[in-house]
Amino acid sequence: MTIHIDADRLRSDFDELAAIGGTAEGGVERLALSPAHLEARRWFLRRAAAAGLGTSIDAAGNHSAILRSASPDARTFLLGSHLDSVPNGGRFDGALGVVAALEVLRTVKEHRLDLPVTLEAIDFTDEEGTLVGLLGSLAVAGVLDAEALAAPRGGRDALLAGLASAGLKEARLGEARRDPRTLAGYLELHIEQGPVLERARVEIGVVRAIVGSRSLELVFEGASAHAGTTPMAARRDAGLGAARFVDRVHDAVTSGFPGAVATVGHVELEPGAFNVVPGSARVLLEFRAGSAAELDRLEQRLLHEARAVATAQRLDLRVQAVGRWEPSPLDASARAAITAAAASLGLSSIELPSGAGHDAQALAQVTRAGMVFVPSVGGVSHQPGELTHWQDCVNGANALLHSTVRLALEAPT
Ligand code: HGY
Ligand code: MN
Ligand code: MN
Repeated sequence: MTIHIDADRLRSDFDELAAIGGTAEGGVERLALSPAHLEARRWFLRRAAAAGLGTSIDAAGNHSAILRSASPDARTFLLGSHLDSVPNGGRFDGALGVVAALEVLRTVKEHRLDLPVTLEAIDFTDEEGTLVGLLGSLAVAGVLDAEALAAPRGGRDALLAGLASAGLKEARLGEARRDPRTLAGYLELHIEQGPVLERARVEIGVVRAIVGSRSLELVFEGASAHAGTTPMAARRDAGLGAARFVDRVHDAVTSGFPGAVATVGHVELEPGAFNVVPGSARVLLEFRAGSAAELDRLEQRLLHEARAVATAQRLDLRVQAVGRWEPSPLDASARAAITAAAASLGLSSIELPSGAGHDAQALAQVTRAGMVFVPSVGGVSHQPGELTHWQDCVNGANALLHSTVRLALEAPT
């Protein structure tokens, strides 16, 4: 008899969670370590305790529900995602993976499945990079580097304020590291956040690899000047420099890097007045590609474009790297288990790459890691209109359950 998760209970959890940090447009805003995010984490632990599961919070603030194995030296199989969101985000990104992981633990417990592993449903801190990016999962993997903390993409002030509000100590984040020998694997259910599964009319995505990403802060410095009396030819207009750079980023990527993407998500002009030529422009740039070599090539080209604009507009230029995560293939046995689990449930599946970053790419550095994708309606994500049909959510949770059981039984004890 094929066991299934309790779809009604999953839906009730999902809807309760979506109300925490819910926005008027039907999305959520739970920025990492914000009050809404901390409230969602408290809710998660309450639900875990209500199910008779163990709970824990580690030194990086990762929150876990735990179903301990009867065997004292059993390894831990992690499953989870993240409860933090982007600004004005959607209800499904991260949240679906966390509530589905909790539901898997409850289902295994209720069916008294005697797995040779401890199961742990985990909510990772700051997956979205409002502060650092993959902060909690990189800490668990033991690869959270000092540079990322010294110049985080959300800024040092935001990081320190967030850690303080959560009662976390920067100096102790590294204590969240798990000895890889204690881990039996990691699985994550996540919405695809792209159009592939919907277009292919396929129910389950088996993630083959996750792209790498780099974030740079560029500051173009010119000279503030009177907007009325300064001739156009006499200006050192940082705003013009930023605009020219954004245009060149788009042209460089679309003409020379077919497998990559680049985004300028924020431009800040100082002093920011109608009647002052901007003397300074802060530009936040993120770019992604499937290999480290392509990321290197793209970084060189984008820096070349920035320098060319600065020269043409007689501007000074400062560039600071503020974040990166490496491209990551996902584990073949995890991919096989997900494919087999989908088939056993009568669900169609295909393998595909992920253009979005995920905690799985941190865990993949230290243990078998896999991801289950479910379709995103219209490929829309990172905005309130993010939507996955409920049956697809249930399919994904059942695929997560059966993939977890398969891998747990395969795991060498
Ligand atoms: O940015 C991403 O790709 C992910 O949603 N954190
Ligand atoms: Mn996510
Ligand atoms: Mn996201």
